[in-house]
Amino acid sequence: MAALPVTGNRLLHWTIAALTISALATGYALTNNEPFSPNLLRTHLGLGLSAGLLALVRTIFWLAKEAPQPVFAVHSGLQQAIGKGVHAALRLVPLLLLVSGIGMIVISVSLEKIANGTLPGLAAFAGLPPAGLHHAAALLLAALIGLHSLAALWHWQRRSFTA
Ligand code: HEM
Ligand code: HEM
Repeated sequence: MAALPVTGNRLLHWTIAALTISALATGYALTNNEPFSPNLLRTHLGLGLSAGLLALVRTIFWLAKEAPQPVFAVHSGLQQAIGKGVHAALRLVPLLLLVSGIGMIVISVSLEKIANGTLPGLAAFAGLPPAGLHHAAALLLAALIGLHSLAALWHWQRRSFTA
């Protein structure tokens, strides 16, 4: 499979980033707000599915070809290893959210109620194994994005670009 051109990689990166951050925000708003909003749940599912499916496309390119060329220069083997590990996790954790999110909907058999707006709340998902995985993966992803954004800011301030 051919590699994506640089502009394609960047477009994919920023589209996935915007969708993922919006899915995190709507997910936490959903579970921390009273009363329950069926529209917020539907918005979350749309954003989460789009983010997860695009992350799957990016992972397929990554596995079939290679990771995009780095933008920032790294100065030690440790820095390079941490960067590679964090980027790999940022590619894979959204897939866990995709699978666990779909798992919750399938196991709770709530798709029809979500579609017609009659789901009364989030009780249908409470205690389901994919719900525990979804919550843990969301927290891990939020922490990784925080670390990743700080690293990008740090590199950008030092103007440590590869070219
Ligand atoms: C404000 C948020 C973000 C900023 C400022 C940012 C910035 C960057 C920059 C500058 C790079 C290039 C680093 C290099 O290779 O030298 C990069 C790469 C990467 N970022 Fe982000 N990013 C953000 C959000 C995200 C989010 C939300 C995700 C995942 C859900 C993500 C996943 C990745 C991945 C996987 C790479 C490696 C290259 C690739 O596969 O596209 N980033 N990011
Ligand atoms: C990158 C994609 C996604 C992200 C970042 C994300 C993030 C989140 C977050 C942060 C929460 C709240 C968790 C908490 O309070 O601890 C949540 C809840 C939820 N998400 Fe997602 N999600 C994504 C994809 C999906 C998908 C694809 C589905 C279903 C198809 C889904 C279905 C749900 C449901 C049903 C809840 C409520 C769970 C409960 O009541 O325990 N999510 N999500």
